[in-house]
Amino acid sequence: MQYNLKKMEEADLNKQTVLVRVDFNVAISNKKIMNTKRIDSTIPTINYLESKNCRIILVSHLGRPRGVDMNLSLQPVRDYLSEKLNKEVYFIKNIESINETVNRMNYGDVAIMENIRFYNEETKNSEKFSKMLASSASVFVSDAFGTLHRAHSSTVGVSQYLPSYAGLLVEKEVCEISKLLDNPSHPYTVALGGAKVSDKIKLIQNLSKNTDRFVIGGAMANSFIRAMGFETGKSLVDSVGLAKQLLDSMGNKLILPVDVIVCNESMDRETIRNAKIDDIKINETAMDIGNETTAMFRDLIKESRTVIFNGPMGYVENESFENGTKAVMDAIGSVNGVRVAGGGDTLSAIEKFHMENRFSYISTGGGAFLEMLEGSELPGLKVLLK
Ligand code: 3PG
Repeated sequence: MQYNLKKMEEADLNKQTVLVRVDFNVAISNKKIMNTKRIDSTIPTINYLESKNCRIILVSHLGRPRGVDMNLSLQPVRDYLSEKLNKEVYFIKNIESINETVNRMNYGDVAIMENIRFYNEETKNSEKFSKMLASSASVFVSDAFGTLHRAHSSTVGVSQYLPSYAGLLVEKEVCEISKLLDNPSHPYTVALGGAKVSDKIKLIQNLSKNTDRFVIGGAMANSFIRAMGFETGKSLVDSVGLAKQLLDSMGNKLILPVDVIVCNESMDRETIRNAKIDDIKINETAMDIGNETTAMFRDLIKESRTVIFNGPMGYVENESFENGTKAVMDAIGSVNGVRVAGGGDTLSAIEKFHMENRFSYISTGGGAFLEMLEGSELPGLKVLLK
């Protein structure tokens, strides 16, 4: 699919007041931002608008509050941005005070509004609310790639009332993800992990048109192991029927574990062993891909020219079960070609093992990244197309 974006560089933005939807939905603990990648990734757009002497109003959600919840305030993000941009960033406490703040701002100033999901009108894409948001600005720029799969007031609604453009992050994400969908180089391998087959079914179906193989690990592999008729003990298993359908319809594209690292419920070291998939005991849980599987996945990845990584191969929260995931990421690092990762748990694993440099691109999207790969229409993207 070709995405012909309305790019903000094509608009005359000089001295405009620009409402910029960003995705600053980041983990914050004790007012400390745990990972700033999503915020840092929007700096080029902010800098570009500053260079055009715009008044910049940033709007984001944080978490899924029901009404006002100060634990989900964007204040820490405002403080971080002030530091990063090396200037005072205005804080707009509520929607009623947007216009009053804008009137106080000089051209080139930046403001951020409090968590937009403190208003339940936001997720309902309320017309009145969208109009109110739009009334503060003359242009809308969407740079919230991670939220483009949501049809909310600040991602879709406002575009009805303002000329709307894609920001630089959205442009970059769309360009990088398009490489995975249109004319990719082969061999093309998708390394898939994570919990559930049902979460990945659409993605597998859509990508299978183009890809050569899926190497499958993580808990979702258990459903396939069960579908092949093997015992999976106490392992997490979902949608065995779905797994069976996939095995029947695209059997040789799915590369499944031949062995797994198992342990019993206590997770005691002495119970951890490498087991062939036909040798998992009823009291055992599969926690990682096994040694033979790791070597097989590594070889298949290394000879690829395009690789997607989505979902850890094992329970990386425990160091006894992180080898598969680390080995897969390492192998991706040696691929001479496109190496893209995306998805919430995936990013945490990359960050945990400091493996950012193994990838040619790491998406800021979780659900949006997956939905784009699924071939779904993203409502927030649709409004940015010519
Ligand atoms: C995400 O983290 O995937 C986006 O910020 C969207 O958040 P949501 O799933 O709460 O809409």
